[in-house]
Amino acid sequence: MPKIVILGCGVLGLTTAIVLRKNGFDDITIVGEHHPGDELTHEFTSPWAGASIVTFAFENKLLQDIDRISFQEFKREADEVPEAGLMYCPGIHYSEVDDQAAESWGHKFYLNTSEIPKDKLPQGVKFGYKFMSCEFTMSAPKYLSWLVSNVQKLGITFERGTFDSVSQLSEKYSADTVINCSGLGSQYLTDVQDKTISAIRGQTVLINAPHIKTQMYREGPDVYTYIIPRPDGNCIVGGTLDYDNKSPEPNPDISKDILKRVYELNPELTHGKGPDAFNIVQHNVGFRPGRKDGVRLEKETLGVGNKRITVVHNYGHGAHGYLSSWGSAVKVLELLRGGIQVKAKL
Ligand SMILES: Cc1cc2nc3c(=O)[nH]c(=O)nc-3n(C[C@H](O)[C@H](O)[C@H](O)COP(=O)(O)OP(=O)(O)OC[C@H]3O[C@@H](n4cnc5c(N)ncnc54)[C@H](O)[C@@H]3O)c2cc1C
Ligand SMILES: *[C@@H]1O[C@H](CO)[C@@H](O)[C@H](O)[C@H]1NC(C)=O
Ligand SMILES: *[C@@H]1O[C@H](CO)[C@@H](O)[C@H](O)[C@H]1NC(C)=O
Repeated sequence: MPKIVILGCGVLGLTTAIVLRKNGFDDITIVGEHHPGDELTHEFTSPWAGASIVTFAFENKLLQDIDRISFQEFKREADEVPEAGLMYCPGIHYSEVDDQAAESWGHKFYLNTSEIPKDKLPQGVKFGYKFMSCEFTMSAPKYLSWLVSNVQKLGITFERGTFDSVSQLSEKYSADTVINCSGLGSQYLTDVQDKTISAIRGQTVLINAPHIKTQMYREGPDVYTYIIPRPDGNCIVGGTLDYDNKSPEPNPDISKDILKRVYELNPELTHGKGPDAFNIVQHNVGFRPGRKDGVRLEKETLGVGNKRITVVHNYGHGAHGYLSSWGSAVKVLELLRGGIQVKAKL
């Protein structure tokens, strides 16, 4: 059995640890500089997420596979594992872009989709559909602590540590296999640096609107507007996808623009009282681990001293790290098994 070290304690590192452990790998350590429950920092993305279960895998076959595996798992949790905090939530998707691939993938992916008749669409919208999806009932930090409790129950060693290189990591743990779930973090690793990783800023507003029970998305050519209700009566509304702005401070003009857009999307948010009547709980800024070519799921062998170390990469999930988590973990398992498709236990 290989001795495995997973670098990164975000949603990808934690789910990967769980899936590997449940599928026969029994010597696993997961290590990261930042842990769930720590004070928030912009180097650690997972606690900032929405997090909704929407797919962006319109044309990417690998990502479609990954998202489908994850969705099956979230559905199973919604049906059978109340502690996981998943529930069904109806949704509406509008698109201002006539994107056939997005439309047909959406119909295939979600449950119970139905076309919204063209004459019922808001102005500027090319197509829209209703769907049923799953939704987290807990905030992202709470879901992460649920994952941590599973990691601990499964006997996976969970540690804190900061590493500059894979060689340092494999030496410290005498590991022969390193799984790289470092998100944005190890742009700084010295041995192999991925220069195509960049932080994509996302600003959101948490508002109180307990009467809202439907998630809504409106996709534009360069803006993406969304409303994600939570059972606690709050909604996360957003958003932005900003490649240039690196400021960790919420920008009031951006918040104003978000609130204007979400009000247009659903005026019921303030009972029709206008975009200045929001009950604001909090303003947030997070940075997503964007990667030019999308998710990196690859295996390679590195020479460290006179040892060969297997490195499996699992990073660059951008705006969909929660949705893609379980499926990506299964792909890591397949890479470790020599690229063979497996029926994984989740
Ligand atoms: C505002 C916002 C909204 C979002 N909404 C959604 C959503 O609705 N749905 C969805 O699916 N996704 C959403 N996301 C995206 C999602 O949050 C990310 O894709 C996901 O959290 C990435 O997780 P990760 O595990 O790859 O990285 P991270 O959570 O950043 O974890 C990285 C880990 O690696 C560790 N690490 C890195 N480098 C080193 C090192 N050198 N040494 C030691 N440790 C290291 C860090 O300390 C940390 O433990 C959103 C993101 C943002 C910002
Ligand atoms: C989908 O629709 C069917 C038929 O109306 C219904 O029985 C089922 O419960 C729906 N699924 C979900 C998850 O709502
Ligand atoms: C691990 O992933 C990061 C992206 O976060 C990348 O920059 C780095 O090169 C990877 N490490 C190795 C050893 O490949």
